[in-house]
Amino acid sequence: MAGEGVHVQQVASKGLIIGEGPHWVMDRCCLLFVDIMRGEMHRLFTDTRRHQKLHVEPEGAGDSLSFVVPVKNHPDLYAVGLGRSVALVEWLETDPDAHTRKVKVTLHTVESDTPTNRFNDGKCDPRGRLWAGTMAQESAPGVLPKEKGHIFCLNNDLTLDCTMDKISLSNGLAWSHDKKTFYYIDSMAYSVDAFDYDIGTGKIGNRRQVVDFKAVGLDPDIPDGMCIDSNGDLWVACFYGAKVICIDPTTRKIKRKITMPTKNITSVCFGGHDYSTLYVTSSSLGLTPEEVKEQPAGATFAVTGLGVKGIAPDEFVVDEEVLKRKLG
Ligand code: BGC
Ligand code: CA
Repeated sequence: MAGEGVHVQQVASKGLIIGEGPHWVMDRCCLLFVDIMRGEMHRLFTDTRRHQKLHVEPEGAGDSLSFVVPVKNHPDLYAVGLGRSVALVEWLETDPDAHTRKVKVTLHTVESDTPTNRFNDGKCDPRGRLWAGTMAQESAPGVLPKEKGHIFCLNNDLTLDCTMDKISLSNGLAWSHDKKTFYYIDSMAYSVDAFDYDIGTGKIGNRRQVVDFKAVGLDPDIPDGMCIDSNGDLWVACFYGAKVICIDPTTRKIKRKITMPTKNITSVCFGGHDYSTLYVTSSSLGLTPEEVKEQPAGATFAVTGLGVKGIAPDEFVVDEEVLKRKLG
């Protein structure tokens, strides 16, 4: 049971290794998401159920594809986290459903001194800067060398800033509606944190804790992806916890728990015609063969009847002149 009036429906097939990074594109009525370990981007046109996938050819800095964000005003162009790189990929709506494409341009490659690191979650702030963090290689979900990653901010002029070091497993990422607070999750700290945010400069400061997963009894849950609804409440995917939780960041209380039909819930985003559907991704990593058989592990879900709405996710804004030069 997901809760009274709440309905959970599977909308895309199970079997993704790490389904992640859901992002709703209203113009096209489509949900973007990725399968990190297979290096794939997915597009699910929810009205017609057409489901496309694209494999992006790696360029030497790792073959994972950890996030996909549309480039604003360029409907076929996407920014992706490809291994340790951030790159731009072109993907036409008329392309066949499953094929391979080369990156159009690699924007930045980071952490050459730790070649097995990779990017993880990435999201845009309300000015269209792209924030993305890295992590070391895992031997199992959440089992990895600690504090080897960083958080990066890719500015609108395509310059890259490293904004924080000693990150273990970069996740979460959401901004408050007044643009003054940045919410962030380092999964290995089992904590949802807030920072003051300066939207003018993109600078963060004054880190504080919103929810300590262990202290509130969320165990073995690992906090993973996060989004914000129109009330300013946070929705957090609980890996190993078979649920999504809703947190009021002002009271720091958990308001709701939505039970999901599989254990490893990875990320969330609001979408649908009026942003009232919560799309949820999942992973089949770290489950026993029986669990993989019995659960819709790695599937994507639509949760309706929550009685709340989200807002449009921000897209990557790039200065047109800079973009023209980059694309050549
Ligand atoms: C990562 C996975 C990790 C999981 C744990 C995800 O964001 O991509 O590799 O196992 O978080 O919460
Ligand atoms: Ca994630």
